[in-house]
Amino acid sequence: MAALALVLLCAATIMVAPAAADVESHSFPVFNATTAESLWVATNTSIIMPAALLFGPGQSFPEGFLLLPKRVDVWRAGAGGLPTREASFNTSFTVESSAPPVSFVVLLDRFPTLNNPLGLRGSNDSTTGAVPNATDGLAAVEIGTVRSYAPESPNVGLNVTITPNGTAAPGRRAVWVEYNAVAHLLRVYVAAGGEPRPARALLDARLSLAGQGTTQTAFVGFFATRVRDVFLGVRDWDLTVDRLDTDGKKKGTPWWVILIAVLGSVAATAAIVSLVVCSSVSRRRARDMEPKQ
Ligand SMILES: *[C@@H]1O[C@H](CO)[C@@H](O)[C@H](O)[C@H]1NC(C)=O
Ligand SMILES: *[C@@H]1O[C@H](CO)[C@@H](O)[C@H](O)[C@H]1NC(C)=O
Ligand SMILES: *[C@@H]1O[C@H](CO)[C@@H](O)[C@H](O)[C@H]1NC(C)=O
Ligand SMILES: *[C@@H]1O[C@H](CO)[C@@H](O)[C@H](O)[C@H]1NC(C)=O
Ligand SMILES: *[C@@H]1O[C@H](CO)[C@@H](O)[C@H](O)[C@H]1NC(C)=O
Ligand SMILES: *[C@@H]1O[C@H](CO)[C@@H](O)[C@H](O)[C@H]1NC(C)=O
Ligand SMILES: *[C@@H]1O[C@H](CO)[C@@H](O)[C@H](O)[C@H]1NC(C)=O
Repeated sequence: MAALALVLLCAATIMVAPAAADVESHSFPVFNATTAESLWVATNTSIIMPAALLFGPGQSFPEGFLLLPKRVDVWRAGAGGLPTREASFNTSFTVESSAPPVSFVVLLDRFPTLNNPLGLRGSNDSTTGAVPNATDGLAAVEIGTVRSYAPESPNVGLNVTITPNGTAAPGRRAVWVEYNAVAHLLRVYVAAGGEPRPARALLDARLSLAGQGTTQTAFVGFFATRVRDVFLGVRDWDLTVDRLDTDGKKKGTPWWVILIAVLGSVAATAAIVSLVVCSSVSRRRARDMEPKQ
């Protein structure tokens, strides 16, 4: 209970993105100590909120996810649990040409299992084999699945991985990922930073997110070998998702319910790990605020 209280204490504030008429939008010009105030970080050993805690000096962060605070509605079930409505979405962001691979991800409605011996990338045998992929001079793109819930759910959600080609033109790479839920088509466009979206997609794939091992709501964000790579490498992130709730009733679970659900169901060691992270960051913050001797 004490651990929970402290984690809650660490989880200072949360902001909910302003609502548009019939799309839900999120926009981040950059990830920094201010804009990451509302985001989660999830690694194999910890769940940290707010992600801004990691902007303290000397924070080197392991492999993991940077996620929106509120789960996004992906699809809606009708009679018999079959999907009746699915949300289309568009997302765009730029990555530095020198950045390591980053993946735009749609997860499940829960955080990946903490302390999973397989880690966040699953086992080698949970891979689905060849995945749709393409490359041009600027970047390589792969459309695959998220393997962080292995072994129970080895291939779920969506994982669009962008690997910038650092030896091609310098500068940034602009990326657009557009999912048309009616056509069940995902398109990925890549251009040099500052250029408009090209007419032709670099890669497209037929896809049905609804029901294919996905949950009706999902955490959405980025994955990288170091969370820091997302902070430093990804800019100008915009996401718009069709709103499935048209009656204006919000269905999202408050963040503290999610946190309690997570902490209630995982090994105490995990809570302690994130607790240590949180409190060492707070201590460092406090120390940094002390006047210099
Ligand atoms: C973070 O970025 C936003 C938007 O560019 C800017 O307004 C804000 O001042 C930045 N905050 C920090 C701490 O750099
Ligand atoms: C996505 O972009 C297309 C145009 O490329 C637009 O027709 C569609 O309404 C957008 N959908 C969302 C959810 O933003
Ligand atoms: C995930 O965390 C657990 C517990 O700390 C550890 O035993 C395991 O090796 C980690 N997996 C990976 C792939 O890092
Ligand atoms: C996956 O394969 C790589 C190389 O093929 C190997 O180094 C690694 O140990 C394997 N990982 C697991 C979890 O089997
Ligand atoms: C990329 O796609 C080709 C077919 O177009 C396939 O043969 C190859 O295995 C794919 N690569 C990966 C890493 O999935
Ligand atoms: C996402 O896909 C990339 C490329 O296939 C892979 O290296 C990475 O491990 C995947 N990430 C997750 C979280 O499954
Ligand atoms: C990266 O770009 C360079 C220069 O355009 C090209 O020669 C090289 O083949 C590209 N690498 C990949 C992996 O596409």
